[in-house]
Amino acid sequence: MHRVVYPGSFDPVTNGHVDVLQRATQLFDQVIVALGMNPSKSGLFSPDERLSMLRTETESYPNVELATFDGLLVDFCHQREALAIVKGLRVTGDFEFELQMAQMNFRLTGVQTVLMPTSPEYSYLSSSLVKEVAAYGGDVSGLVPEEVRRRLGQAFS
Ligand code: PNS
Repeated sequence: MHRVVYPGSFDPVTNGHVDVLQRATQLFDQVIVALGMNPSKSGLFSPDERLSMLRTETESYPNVELATFDGLLVDFCHQREALAIVKGLRVTGDFEFELQMAQMNFRLTGVQTVLMPTSPEYSYLSSSLVKEVAAYGGDVSGLVPEEVRRRLGQAFS
């Protein structure tokens, strides 16, 4: 059983996340989408709201499970007996930090990290940019799932 963890703060989930997730479900037997809190980012949506949006996007995948975790990602991976961590890679700027985290996580428990390039049409996309565009009334359709677009509209109305 090849189980992997796809972690993130998902504030909110974007079409770029969904793209990486969808491809991970084709490579691995089970993908646990793990909602964690990134202390360096201030959140817009509550953990429950993020989970609810993630649930809508993931319920059609039979091999996806949703979870939350506190503390170190490697501890969560160990508890869930995950083979590896899956992370999306958008632009080269992501690579330096992702490599650093992958090496630290490997150093801590020996867990592997699989870095998956996002589709080019989403390479500029991030939750932070989507929130900024939505905050100023910009159109984020096609960048996030429909429910997320609606909730962003409500959050910034
Ligand atoms: O979507 P994000 O904000 O890039 O997700 C970052 C997240 C939550 C995956 C990352 O901050 C994380 O792994 N947090 C858990 C704490 C941890 O393990 N820190 C050490 C990383 S080497």
